[in-house]
Amino acid sequence: MLHQVTVSNLALGLLLASVSALPRVPTSFVLIGDSTTANGTIPNSGGWGNGFCGSTLTGTPSSLAPGTPCINTAKNGATTGSFVADGSWNISLSTIQGELAKGRRTLATIQFGHNDMKIAPPESMGANMTVMVNQIRALGAEPVLVTSLTRRTFFDNGTIQDLLGPWADETILISQQLGTHLLDLHANSITYVEAIGPDAAHRLNRLPDDDTHLNNNGTIVFGRMLANLMNASFPGQLPIIPNPGLTFNITHGIASF
Ligand SMILES: *[C@@H]1O[C@H](CO)[C@@H](O)[C@H](O)[C@H]1NC(C)=O
Ligand SMILES: *[C@@H]1O[C@H](CO)[C@@H](O)[C@H](O)[C@H]1NC(C)=O
Ligand SMILES: *[C@@H]1O[C@H](CO)[C@@H](O)[C@H](O)[C@H]1NC(C)=O
Ligand SMILES: *[C@@H]1O[C@H](CO)[C@@H](O)[C@H](O)[C@H]1NC(C)=O
Ligand SMILES: *[C@@H]1O[C@H](CO)[C@@H](O)[C@H](O)[C@H]1NC(C)=O
Ligand SMILES: *[C@@H]1O[C@H](CO)[C@@H](O)[C@H](O)[C@H]1NC(C)=O
Ligand SMILES: *[C@@H]1O[C@H](CO)[C@@H](O)[C@H](O)[C@H]1NC(C)=O
Repeated sequence: MLHQVTVSNLALGLLLASVSALPRVPTSFVLIGDSTTANGTIPNSGGWGNGFCGSTLTGTPSSLAPGTPCINTAKNGATTGSFVADGSWNISLSTIQGELAKGRRTLATIQFGHNDMKIAPPESMGANMTVMVNQIRALGAEPVLVTSLTRRTFFDNGTIQDLLGPWADETILISQQLGTHLLDLHANSITYVEAIGPDAAHRLNRLPDDDTHLNNNGTIVFGRMLANLMNASFPGQLPIIPNPGLTFNITHGIASF
């Protein structure tokens, strides 16, 4: 009996092995952005934040090791300008300071574009993002720029009708100018939704005709995509837990839902 390896023992062993392989530096995440990051004001999430951080309110599993603070300060409808003007940015900064004060390595993601594109050319967003990066660094935290989650609006030929490209490109440019980490969620989300096709992509919509916001399944998928991009950008440094099945589906263009 002693040599009998049960499935649950094996699963426990793998779990312990993966947890003990996680980094020991305590890390916190603070999310900054618009509704495509925000957790939404009704149970279904608006953006990828709940799938990344997890939410007990919506029963969404986290992509992070248990106990990892992940605070979503993103705001529905925000541009880089309105986010500062309405006080949201000050909330993000004080949240970051709070995590740093606990002695934690603190990563702050910044993703804008969906609303900025409605009011100004990309350079306006870029200038505002530059100020944000510098202020986050001045506090002692690490900014991580994220390109906009794609909208799930397709041409008849199955490709994405992409209006966000110039804002994604601007985000990439700022990351290069300032030497920040960059997660190219825009390119990766386009590749994935084109692979799974319009019907499966639209099943991730918060409402059937809302190609911008995500339901709970959508936040699980794109929260995992974000977690994987984050892990690839900081190899082995962050308390990101694996989800091999969902990662397989994402990297092979298979619809999970
Ligand atoms: C959204 O995030 C805020 C800040 O972390 C939190 O207070 C709130 O409970 C979250 N809501 C949901 C539905 O997850
Ligand atoms: C950038 O911030 C300025 C204020 O500093 C504001 O006037 C401008 O509209 C903002 N740009 C965007 C795209 O929000
Ligand atoms: C944000 O905080 C700064 C510094 O305390 C303050 O000057 C500014 O008025 C605040 N912004 C808003 C919109 O409350
Ligand atoms: C798909 O259709 C759009 C709109 O007509 C067009 O701009 C694009 O080049 C097409 N892409 C392919 C791969 O055929
Ligand atoms: C994170 O990256 C490390 C190093 O590349 C890898 O060993 C690990 O499996 C990755 N974890 C996840 C959750 O993808
Ligand atoms: C992966 O995709 C398959 C096929 O749609 C699905 O049955 C499975 O539940 C997915 N796995 C995860 C972990 O999402
Ligand atoms: C999420 O996917 C599950 C399994 O396919 C399905 O039962 C559920 O209705 C989906 N939820 C939403 C909000 O579409």
